[in-house]
Amino acid sequence: METQPRQADIYDWLRDWQPRSLSQSALTLPSEFYSSAELYRLEQQQIFGKYWYYVGHLSQLHGPGSYFTVDIAEQPLVIVQDKAGTLRGFFNICTHRAGPVALDSGQCKRLTCLYHAWSFDLEGNLRGLPDMEAAENFDRAEHALTPVKVETWGPFIFVNLDPESDPLAVQMGELPEMMQRYQLQTWHRAHSVDYWTDTNWKLYVENNTESYHEPTVHPILAKYYRQVTAEARYHYYLQYTPVLPDSGEVLSVYPEGTFQPGLNEKEMTGVSTVSFFPNFAWIIAPNCAIIYLIDPQGPSRTRVRWDWLVPDQPAAKSAENLEPLIQFYDDIQKEDLTLLPEIQKRVQSIGYRPGRLSPRREMGTHLFQELIVRALAAGVSP
Ligand code: FES
Ligand SMILES: [Fe+2]
Repeated sequence: METQPRQADIYDWLRDWQPRSLSQSALTLPSEFYSSAELYRLEQQQIFGKYWYYVGHLSQLHGPGSYFTVDIAEQPLVIVQDKAGTLRGFFNICTHRAGPVALDSGQCKRLTCLYHAWSFDLEGNLRGLPDMEAAENFDRAEHALTPVKVETWGPFIFVNLDPESDPLAVQMGELPEMMQRYQLQTWHRAHSVDYWTDTNWKLYVENNTESYHEPTVHPILAKYYRQVTAEARYHYYLQYTPVLPDSGEVLSVYPEGTFQPGLNEKEMTGVSTVSFFPNFAWIIAPNCAIIYLIDPQGPSRTRVRWDWLVPDQPAAKSAENLEPLIQFYDDIQKEDLTLLPEIQKRVQSIGYRPGRLSPRREMGTHLFQELIVRALAAGVSP
């Protein structure tokens, strides 16, 4: 039996870590991964400080000067369209004394700090600085906003805090090609909702990357369980559930005008769940998609933003199409969110010890845990 490392040993555990085979030797993570403030800070540096992660949807912006703020893993950012309409991202931290240069979302000519009103143009250059004339050796260029890299895949905006990172396309691998028939850039964002849970963000992702819990936690999904297929590789987990035409549920009926044209037969007759490391996921059916932004807000607190997309057609956007779908998936989400804080409590208990994973059903959880540990181990000096 593998014993729990104590707090002081977790860095040794990371130094000694070797990849494990799912079927032969995989064990779930030690308790510290879900509770330690130190490991959370290491995640901020090694995962959210180095990987591309999802921050929002292009429809949150409306042309030059529009912006939105976002605070993923407690790093305040502002995403803005500059004068030319190009996307830019900055730490939302004024270079004077760390005030916010924007709140919420809106439209502006300059980003103006809410503390002492220093102002920055849309390219991040410091332009306005009241009552600073007497400051000697003051080089404005040294006090520009700190930029972060921004890229998009379709309508999805990602940032990377590491100036040396590879392009987003490298991290995405083959996913864009696999999804291209859906033409998600043409879909309409119809609804957004934030869920909060007293759960470490990784427990949420781990739950989202396996079908094992579905018949127990979601009785309505039990009838699909045997048909579910899944694979996990590189930075993603992909699950496919064929719909049962006679189930009589919202999942199985796509009235005329509600679904995306041009999908292949498999896409037309099933629901895919994709989870992309570290914080992005989606569920997609021919007539709707739920886009997940998973946002750590401390070692045991997580915000999950769901943006609902539908094909940009009147029937798809109608309340008649959307409301039953929202109800269906909201019920499922609440079943998960009822259970997950119970898991959080238990992984933090002195009675917890790492367990084995189902090779058939939990390959996504295994991949995610391997990616987490690999990223953290890379940040621990030998
Ligand atoms: S902190 Fe921004 S102007 Fe002072
Ligand atoms: Fe679930």
